[in-house]
Amino acid sequence: QEQSPLHNKTFLITAGPTYEPIDPVRFIGNHSSGKMGMQIAKAALHLGAKVKLVLGPSAEFYEHTNLEILKVQTAQQMLDACLSIFNQVDVAIATAAVSDYRPAQVVDQKIKKKDETLTLELIKNPDILKTLGAKKTNQLLVGFALETQNEEENAIQKLSNKNLDFIVLNSMNNDGAGFQHNTNKITILADNYKKEFDLKTKSEVASDILTEILQRIA
Ligand code: C5P
Repeated sequence: QEQSPLHNKTFLITAGPTYEPIDPVRFIGNHSSGKMGMQIAKAALHLGAKVKLVLGPSAEFYEHTNLEILKVQTAQQMLDACLSIFNQVDVAIATAAVSDYRPAQVVDQKIKKKDETLTLELIKNPDILKTLGAKKTNQLLVGFALETQNEEENAIQKLSNKNLDFIVLNSMNNDGAGFQHNTNKITILADNYKKEFDLKTKSEVASDILTEILQRIA
């Protein structure tokens, strides 16, 4: 439609946690719900965009003609899915809570209960967003940061380290913000740029982020 500001744009959005297998029945994961990414997907669809949502294990689901959901489990699978579509997208937004480490070995039988302690060796996972940042051509790239100390300083570090256009800082210092909540309080940071928002629903936060994107790709 003529009036849809994003009708010719394609978005890549990562969302949810990753699950890193330990053995056939266990994994390392986190409490990410995938809600923030899904709300951003819906906001982009509403403005006429095509969305490819690379989604880790999550209860979130939605159907729309312009939405393609690529379901993944591990960080490596999430990276592979992102790399396979990155050159087709105009905007990439990383909301996923990717496990920083995975078990060095995946045991093929269930690990038996034995000694009083059990040691798992972990190795570093790829940084998906940083990998995309290094491959960026014309894409607008957006990251998230959740910090517990020196929030802005650390977020600005990530902005340059991952080659982002802007970063969304989630405040941990507010009840009701972040993981598993329906609300969030954000600050948008870019080079010499800072915009603070009130505590809002994740759907309102998604519109604020889309407004920022629209201003930057207009
Ligand atoms: O470095 P840190 O994990 O704090 O950065 C957070 C941002 O990087 C988020 O946008 C997150 O989705 C992304 N990320 C990623 N792959 C990782 C770790 C983080 O895409 N392995």
